[in-house]
Amino acid sequence: MKKATKLIYVCQSCGYETPKWMGRCPDCSQWNAFVEEIPGAGLKSGMLASMGQPQNIDAISLDPELRFETGIAEFDRTLGGGLVPGSMVLIGGDPGIGKSTLILQVVGRLSQNGLKCLYLSGEESPQQIKLRAERLSIHSQDLFILTGTCIEHLFERLDALKPDLLVVDSIQTVYTEALPSAPGSVGQVREVAARLMNWAKKTGIPTFLIGHVTKEGAIAGPKVLEHLVDTVLYFEGDRTHAFRILRSVKNRFGATNEIGVFEMKESGLQEVGNPSRIFLEEKPEDASGSVVIPCLEGTRPVLLEIQALVGPSPLGMPRRTAVGVDHNRISLLVAVLGKRMGLEMGDQDIFVNVAGGLRVDEPAADLAIVSAMISSFLDRPVDNNMVLFGEVGLAGEIRGVSQPELRIKEAKKLGFTRCLLSKSNMDGIRSPAGMKLLGVDSVKGLMDVLF
Ligand code: TYD
Ligand code: MG
Repeated sequence: MKKATKLIYVCQSCGYETPKWMGRCPDCSQWNAFVEEIPGAGLKSGMLASMGQPQNIDAISLDPELRFETGIAEFDRTLGGGLVPGSMVLIGGDPGIGKSTLILQVVGRLSQNGLKCLYLSGEESPQQIKLRAERLSIHSQDLFILTGTCIEHLFERLDALKPDLLVVDSIQTVYTEALPSAPGSVGQVREVAARLMNWAKKTGIPTFLIGHVTKEGAIAGPKVLEHLVDTVLYFEGDRTHAFRILRSVKNRFGATNEIGVFEMKESGLQEVGNPSRIFLEEKPEDASGSVVIPCLEGTRPVLLEIQALVGPSPLGMPRRTAVGVDHNRISLLVAVLGKRMGLEMGDQDIFVNVAGGLRVDEPAADLAIVSAMISSFLDRPVDNNMVLFGEVGLAGEIRGVSQPELRIKEAKKLGFTRCLLSKSNMDGIRSPAGMKLLGVDSVKGLMDVLF
């Protein structure tokens, strides 16, 4: 019988090592911080093993055909222009959001282009995957499905099949025999991912890992892998809406915050090439509390509708509900409105919502949120042909934001004729024909231009 490898438990917060698991670290007093590891594995599985000679930066040549495109434009864009050989891409997201569907469509395309793809599933049977592939109309001689969860077995199959691309769905179901803990534990997920990473770098074969986002608990989420992999994409969206956003939060080969927009249909995910149009499709005309903001998602401008509903509260502590925008930001903006404009909303229930199930994290949304709240509070609709963007400061000043021209251009493209922005943003930009720019420098001046 093989002698069991010795394991150590390492505190994730201070690095303290112990041969036995402990609930609390004796060194830094952190609870539940111990994760089992194989001694020395970190070094072996890192990339040190493949260290070459120092090279002069001028002597390093760039291969022009470094990337290959999947043919799904929204996906390629999020990756930064295609897939890089030897790269490891993590796709995270809530269960049921459509990760398996997306990746199956991607490998479907790639295999139809002659790339030999191996799809390892630890969650579904080959029949289930076949059923989904039927639904997505994927037929290919070069797409291979493997079911199983043991990484040692996977490497045996990889040696035999020699694929050009590997998908592991999901990383939380795969385990290594070297660790006794259950699949999905932090130790397992990290060790398995490190081995796959090592393999990907050694062979130059691009690898996709799927990871479920989980509530804190026994199963490790994609967060524990983010530092290890090359690219992290999150697949997000409200499950009650059909729209799905693929967002890059880390990318060693391209810009982050880049997004791809998809719509979940009966026959799989469909690309949405012009998201602004879709997100504004159902915007009510002449309704108070609804405004449009040109946001930037990565390098891409997207028009979104922000809605607010402000009304007297029957409660002693009025409600503040925010969907798609930061809750604290709403409280701050309400305070600014009260202090700087004399619009007291302290006794009002306030609901703010980004239509279409999207999230806006930019401060550029402040002006839109403020305007939507004022519009609802006074029950006066904002001009249908106007977009607005700008950051609101605590003194009530309206500050400039990045890329005003890009935003204005997108608004122009969709037929808007007026744009409300900060005065400082107006300097040095030419307004395109048919677009009137209205500059404001403080929320005090907002009433004059808003209605
Ligand atoms: P799935 O890819 O299994 O999610 P994940 O891998 O992230 O857990 O997608 C599951 C959902 O997608 C499921 O609710 C059904 C829906 N779906 C469609 O609406 N159309 C389709 O063509 C497919 C394949 C799935
Ligand atoms: Mg799945």
